[in-house]
Amino acid sequence: MRRVFFPLFQKYVMPSACKCVASRMEKDQLDLERSVRRDRLERHYKRSIISESLKRASFENFIIRRGTENVFNEAKRFADTFRIQEFGLMLYGKPGNGKSHLMASIHHELVKHGYVCLFLDVSQLFNTAKDTFKFSSKVSLTDIITAAVDCDLLTLDEIGSGVLSETEFNDILFPIINGRMGKKTNYSSNLDLNRLSKWFEKGRNGGALDTDGRLIDRIIGSCRVFENLATSKRHEDALKRMHD
Ligand SMILES: Nc1ncnc2c1ncn2[C@@H]1O[C@H](COP(=O)(O)OP(=O)(O)OP(=O)(O)O)[C@@H](O)[C@H]1O
Ligand SMILES: [Mg+2]
Repeated sequence: MRRVFFPLFQKYVMPSACKCVASRMEKDQLDLERSVRRDRLERHYKRSIISESLKRASFENFIIRRGTENVFNEAKRFADTFRIQEFGLMLYGKPGNGKSHLMASIHHELVKHGYVCLFLDVSQLFNTAKDTFKFSSKVSLTDIITAAVDCDLLTLDEIGSGVLSETEFNDILFPIINGRMGKKTNYSSNLDLNRLSKWFEKGRNGGALDTDGRLIDRIIGSCRVFENLATSKRHEDALKRMHD
């Protein structure tokens, strides 16, 4: 008779014996496996905290401004149907119009439902990864990469700002995005796909990085891309403050 093995419990269950026992064990197994990955993630990304304003971001406190309708609906649908979604989301557009807010809302919603999620500003990822080069670091670069590859949803916020270094591209970004093939990764960017692909091509001092477009090809192949057409909420709020 076929038996199902649950490695973390070191137990076999006969599915035909009792369906409800098998499905309860399957759920316990998933919970346990998630808590192992969550612990590892929290250990390796100790310093990575979401900014205060993004901590409070949610779908409920997102105001549907002109140009945000489509991205709001897509983000909400993505969070509500995460399990059956095949692709990640990329939101791009002008600064301050709510891309990170929506990405953080998805992240918080999925964390609430028990998923193992990691939300990282790309420059924060680079800093965390480079901290491992210090002699005193107890965490290795492999730990950082493995934890980012292993989570259910990785959000890389603000990809495409600044100029990439060879290390950032070859040793950090490429292994993470490549390692996550088949998993869902969300991105926010100020750059559209053409500009983002150019961003990957040239590094600091004009050095060639991804001239063949290997990384942008992986991103396009694993994401649905939407433009947030709204103007800056940040700017609007600043103007309001000036006139108060
Ligand atoms: N539609 C909205 N409803 C409520 N708050 C919003 C909305 N759009 C933006 N905000 C708030 O405005 C601030 C800036 O938004 P956010 O950080 O999401 O912009 P962004 O599109 O990621 O900008 P950037 O491209 O510069 O990273 C945040 O505090 C966010 O919570
Ligand atoms: Mg942002």
